[in-house]
Amino acid sequence: MGDAIVLFGATGDLSRRKILPALNNLLKLGKLPSDLEVVGLATRQLNLQEFFDYVKAPELIRNHLSYLSGDFKAHETYEALKERLAAKKNIIFYLATPPSFYVTISSMLAEHGIATREQANGFHHIIVEKPFGMDLESARELNKSLLSHFNEDQIFRIDHYLGKETVQNIAAFRFSNGIFEPIWNRRYIDFVTITVAEDIGVENRGKYFEEAGMLRDIVQNHLLQVLALIAMEPPVKFDADNVRDEKVKVFRSIRKVRIKDVIRGQYKGYHGEENVASDSMVETFVGAKFYVENWRWAGVPFYIRTGKKLPKKTTEVVISFRQPPMRMFDVEQDHVCGMPNQLVIGLQPESFIDIRFGVKKPGPGMDMMPVDMKFNYSKYMSEDTISDYQRLLLDCYKKDLTLFARNDGVEACWQIIDPIEEAWQNLTDDMKIYKPGSWGPELSDIMDDHCHGFQESY
Ligand code: BG6
Repeated sequence: MGDAIVLFGATGDLSRRKILPALNNLLKLGKLPSDLEVVGLATRQLNLQEFFDYVKAPELIRNHLSYLSGDFKAHETYEALKERLAAKKNIIFYLATPPSFYVTISSMLAEHGIATREQANGFHHIIVEKPFGMDLESARELNKSLLSHFNEDQIFRIDHYLGKETVQNIAAFRFSNGIFEPIWNRRYIDFVTITVAEDIGVENRGKYFEEAGMLRDIVQNHLLQVLALIAMEPPVKFDADNVRDEKVKVFRSIRKVRIKDVIRGQYKGYHGEENVASDSMVETFVGAKFYVENWRWAGVPFYIRTGKKLPKKTTEVVISFRQPPMRMFDVEQDHVCGMPNQLVIGLQPESFIDIRFGVKKPGPGMDMMPVDMKFNYSKYMSEDTISDYQRLLLDCYKKDLTLFARNDGVEACWQIIDPIEEAWQNLTDDMKIYKPGSWGPELSDIMDDHCHGFQESY
């Protein structure tokens, strides 16, 4: 007996860049069983050494890694896999393939009796990578298909942002510190901004990106998950069902977005990328205003922006608090919007929590100047701090679903996204072309007088 992880799509980019290195590190840290077998499965005909070379398999994992080449649609592939897994106790099936194979693979695993709902001793878990559907309808179909073979608690829908230490810290910070909770609502918070910026373009993923676009690639999952952590009510208990119940409530409270509150952009030169149509209307930037319409947040705008080829990689949340009822002192001239108190949560690459406030500028008079108090989380992270993929793989092993998306949550997110995609279908002249290396299209049209929301530095 022993355990196994079957990696479908083992020669793909994701396996090579993220999954295999994550497994390698977990083995190195002794967090996975020493007799674990990792079966790489892909269509490419390779012998074991060629496979190692192709995926640049890290040293340690080579002792655990085997390779099986086969067509995901062919019964022989599953017969061979069944034989290989005959003596295994706990098995994780990791679907790191294009999404079009999810239904076939999961059905074949069930049909061949390789993955079952009930196991006498041990578990069968299935990990599904994003994108989880392309819209509400396809997500529903996929959920239906998976649930016809697996129980919900066997299905691990990965959103790797939830595996990030700093993203988890949002919940820890909110629910373990008494000082912020009383002001964490519409009475004290003016608006919230969330930025997920990348400096890279679509790289070699033009084909995928042409089908996805930034709205499906980032907003539907990573960005809405971060928003939910900021906006959710305290769960009864920090466990999978209670946390996910609260997140779903946030998603369901998001008011249908008016299309005039969404700005899409495309970086100059996108049309020249590999596998991109020369007249593509796919967005590489999205800026939008969301409202979470519930008792805590009614009337508080949540501005989001995400884009490729922006000046730098950064994921950041800024909570801007309401200003005092009247301005008593003058503010330094360059702070045209006054000086809001802000709480900035830096998620990556720098992890920090920064509280920004005003103090008296030394000297005669009573002018104010902005200062900040910054806690640098990175200082406490060490070599042993595990990465997002490592954490999620471990949680899957431990059957902890807290950091994975649940079917109703995924569908609720598509319900927010679909009307925007539909409205875009009927628009032809709204795409804003932006210069690579700039912060993308101007967002002042949707940002009321919250011009300081996306300020780069204080
Ligand atoms: C992925 C997207 O989910 O997240 C990519 O498909 C994006 O387009 C990536 O580049 C960003 O992840 P991270 O962890 O580098 O912020």
